[in-house]
Amino acid sequence: MNLEVIKRAAKVIKGGKFVVALTGAGISVESGIPAFRGSQGLWDRYDPFEYAHISSFYRNPEKVWNMLRELYDICLRAEPNPAHYALAKLEEAGILKAIITQNVDGLHQRAGSKEVIEFHGNGETLACVDCKQKFRITEVDYRNSVPRCSCGGLLKPDIVFFGEMIPHVALERSVELTKKSDVFLVIGTSAQVYPAGGLPVMAKERGSIVVEINLEPTPLTNTVTDVFISGKAGEVLPKLISLVLDN
Ligand code: OAD
Repeated sequence: MNLEVIKRAAKVIKGGKFVVALTGAGISVESGIPAFRGSQGLWDRYDPFEYAHISSFYRNPEKVWNMLRELYDICLRAEPNPAHYALAKLEEAGILKAIITQNVDGLHQRAGSKEVIEFHGNGETLACVDCKQKFRITEVDYRNSVPRCSCGGLLKPDIVFFGEMIPHVALERSVELTKKSDVFLVIGTSAQVYPAGGLPVMAKERGSIVVEINLEPTPLTNTVTDVFISGKAGEVLPKLISLVLDN
């Protein structure tokens, strides 16, 4: 963790009038939820085209539910970490206006963040693919077999699979916030999945200053990022936010 770089980023955030954050799986790694890409990433063990594409879900729900079962068991036990709490604090202070998250774990809201746009949906609810009835994951027995509705239809988590559209409202609101931002924080995302990965580029094109926090450089780092902080989100963010909020 380079303190000089963090101080530079703190100065940028302090000067911002409309700060927006985009988060990805990396922010929840310290809560025990594995990221998708990189070593120990979920897509190392599960081919995303076999497990995360909407056509795979319909073709072989048993197989896809094997992965979902593992994910739910981890996510339902996970707690927010210091990175989630730091962003909630920045919003409470009136500085951070919104978080656009690609995560479906609900940890930002559990940490106290209010303005959270769930770009890829939320895994806490499921919908019957036939009659559209909604269920909470806690009222569904997903552990022993593929969960089904009383009408017999398959239950699908309210998350965006590859091949599905981004929820309309989330997409519109994210674009609006991105265009309005003057400081854009990019935290724990490989920025490889579109359209979410295009938001930092859009922010930059609109004159926003891009601050990126990641363990390693991403395709954004040498192209759109103005300040790159290398380190764990759960260590960098509390330090950064305390510098922003001090005096
Ligand atoms: P990825 O798994 O692609 O990227 C996670 C990023 O977090 C990587 O760049 C890591 O270097 C970084 N990282 C890991 N641990 C970190 C830590 N402790 N602190 C900071 N950074 C850390 O996850 P996303 O970019 O979120 O989509 O993936 C985007 C989408 O791809 C997901 O929403 C999901 C996936 O397929 C769907 O499910 C539709």
